[in-house]
Amino acid sequence: MSESQGTAELKATRPDYGNWVSTRLLYITGVPGVLLLGLAIPFPILMIGAIPFLLAFAYFLYARRQFSPTGGNVQARIHQLVVDRLDWAGEGKALDIGCGNGPLTIKVAQRFPRAQVTGIDYWGGMWKYSKDVCERNAEREGVAGRVTFQKASAAALPFPDECFDAAVSNLVFHEVGGIREKRDVVKEALRVVKKGGSFAFQDLFRMKKAYGDMDDLLETIRRWGIESVQYLDTSDLASLPKALRLPFMVGTIGILYGKK
Ligand SMILES: C[S@@+](CC[C@H](N)C(=O)[O-])C[C@H]1O[C@@H](n2cnc3c(N)ncnc32)[C@H](O)[C@@H]1O
Repeated sequence: MSESQGTAELKATRPDYGNWVSTRLLYITGVPGVLLLGLAIPFPILMIGAIPFLLAFAYFLYARRQFSPTGGNVQARIHQLVVDRLDWAGEGKALDIGCGNGPLTIKVAQRFPRAQVTGIDYWGGMWKYSKDVCERNAEREGVAGRVTFQKASAAALPFPDECFDAAVSNLVFHEVGGIREKRDVVKEALRVVKKGGSFAFQDLFRMKKAYGDMDDLLETIRRWGIESVQYLDTSDLASLPKALRLPFMVGTIGILYGKK
């Protein structure tokens, strides 16, 4: 088998979990950067415009490589942190809110072999994720019989109260629109968890503008009648490269976890 055949075959059997740095981001920084650099030859003043674009392009290229499974594999390490915090016996049904291409949904199904896992996402906007890719990934990872994917919004989950034994989510809540406060997304996620059920939600919870003060957030969640809730700062645990610890990347990640 030739090397290129081998690479093509590997691609066809490997899951595609996408990358949190999209190729679009590379284009919108790289193309103007290169154009301005070209124009700077006759008009050197334009170099001032080219430099920020080229620096941003180099940064996003680096971040994309770090997130990729063939680079630093940071995305998979970040997903693992959520599964590690889910204190659950694995009997019954779990929900992954904002599943993207399904990496966390599938990780939960692999970690808990007796569980049925549902992944929901609205699969729109800037992300190139889809239900079809989720289903193909589940097949490739050998869990297709125990996972289902469904289009839905995290702002108003189409499930009755207290119908899941466990719920997880990764880097979704801060993006959810159509809701008054980001805290309400947490409340909506907890609504569908059974009393005594487990949850582990990772997001940019230290973004004060979105979630307010952490102690106040934890106090508020307890007032909703949640039996136990704790916060863990995870930006150190995933051994993130320093350059990814900027607030607009994953520098403010943490997990809210506990039992309802
Ligand atoms: C950074 S990606 C994370 C995807 C996945 N959880 C992961 O860890 O790879 C954010 C995801 O949130 C989803 N999302 C944003 N707003 C949503 C909403 N209102 N309802 C459901 N999903 C949403 C996007 O479609 C996207 O898949």
